[in-house]
Amino acid sequence: MANSKETKSGGMSLPAFLLVLIALAGIAAGVWLVLSKKATAGRNNYTFVMQVGDQKTLEAMLEHDYTCASSAEGVVYVEPGSKQLLAKSVGEATVVAKDSVTGASQTFVVTVVENPDHPGATVTHIVRTETTTAPATETTLTETSTVPAGVVSGISLSYYTAAIKVGETHPYAVVTMTPADATDKSEIWTTSDDKVATVDKAGRIKGVGAGQCKIRVTSVSNPFVFAEIDVTVADPNATSTTVTTETTGSESGTTVSGETGSSGASQSGTAASGTSSVQNTANPTIEYKDKIGTYVNGILIANKTYPLDSGYNPGLDKNAQAAFTEMQKAAAKEGITLTICSGFRDYNTQKALYNRYVNRDGKAEADRYSARPGHSEHQTGLAMDINRADKSFTGTKEQKWLAANCVKYGFIIRYPEGKENITGYMYESWHIRYLGKDLAKKVADSGLTLEEYLGITSKYAN
Ligand code: DAL
Ligand code: ZN
Repeated sequence: MANSKETKSGGMSLPAFLLVLIALAGIAAGVWLVLSKKATAGRNNYTFVMQVGDQKTLEAMLEHDYTCASSAEGVVYVEPGSKQLLAKSVGEATVVAKDSVTGASQTFVVTVVENPDHPGATVTHIVRTETTTAPATETTLTETSTVPAGVVSGISLSYYTAAIKVGETHPYAVVTMTPADATDKSEIWTTSDDKVATVDKAGRIKGVGAGQCKIRVTSVSNPFVFAEIDVTVADPNATSTTVTTETTGSESGTTVSGETGSSGASQSGTAASGTSSVQNTANPTIEYKDKIGTYVNGILIANKTYPLDSGYNPGLDKNAQAAFTEMQKAAAKEGITLTICSGFRDYNTQKALYNRYVNRDGKAEADRYSARPGHSEHQTGLAMDINRADKSFTGTKEQKWLAANCVKYGFIIRYPEGKENITGYMYESWHIRYLGKDLAKKVADSGLTLEEYLGITSKYAN
């Protein structure tokens, strides 16, 4: 009875038990089918793994041309209308390739894993203006090892191709910054030679003249982290590639005349003196004044080519100071606060600053943004840094006001964006140079840097 009761307590008759068995077998078969399909799929490359930052052309086995779509664009991004996949972040995505004639499809499961070279990285930024089939990708990476939490420590840069033609715009850039949780992942783009190629704020490269140059992307939150790509620009009309050489500056025209007894020359007014003779010229008048430095067409110049005497110690020029005060008052009326955060710097102050940067970043890097002692325009007393001498000033309403208005008060933005190969320095939105109202307007209207306007170079001899 007990057994019978137990049997009954199971509440299942024999036919029902058989049905359960059949159902279980069915489920097991289903699971097996799924598993075996997955295994088969793996063997046929229906599943594959990408690392964050990888790009890949999807190769489906379909009769005709096909397009692809991703179930999770944040994990695997698919260039619209193309077969180009970009692994953006860790995860899984289903990518379906669809035959554009028959509509038949093939499904791929893509697993994206971390890139061991860039732990924690995600692809954060994509620029695209058109699609391309060129497969070449070049990537360079610079990483610093110890940075505070939240600050970018690594950056990588990829383009579909590093070869473009004059007049063409490069279609596609991918910038990856690490760590993924860095608070400010904004970037700045620069070209080493804007006669070869320019780059806009979104990283689009435009071919200007045949030759080679470097395009660099730099982290704003950590300007010492950057990635570069070597770009080759071809002339579509030339039979062979011509490399454009820099034509600014004529060293043969440099006459150094050692004037003596002029140490008492008044600094006041030197910036604007001789404006009538100042013009964009291939043969500038270059005069060396003892115990001061070099005047080009009457303008005192301190750049990488022309140093100042180490003892030249004029303090902040009175005219420049007065022009600043006038500008400051005009700005204040519009709710804009301007202050001089660094004006005159003597030789030794510059030496200490420069050495500190060399110790921190190495000489080559320091030379891109800090003048060697004797070469700083701040030592002329005619240059000043406004509000904050760092990249966080760029884009502020004060910076925009300064850029739009400083010329009216006799100043120019001395180191404009994209002119590093000419001025010798990276873009400094905060550094202004006093030239006097007439000359500042002429230079600004010309659209040239001061070096180009005067026809001089800015390069260290060694
Ligand atoms: N930062 C500018 C180039 C200087 O050091 O004078
Ligand atoms: Zn400065």
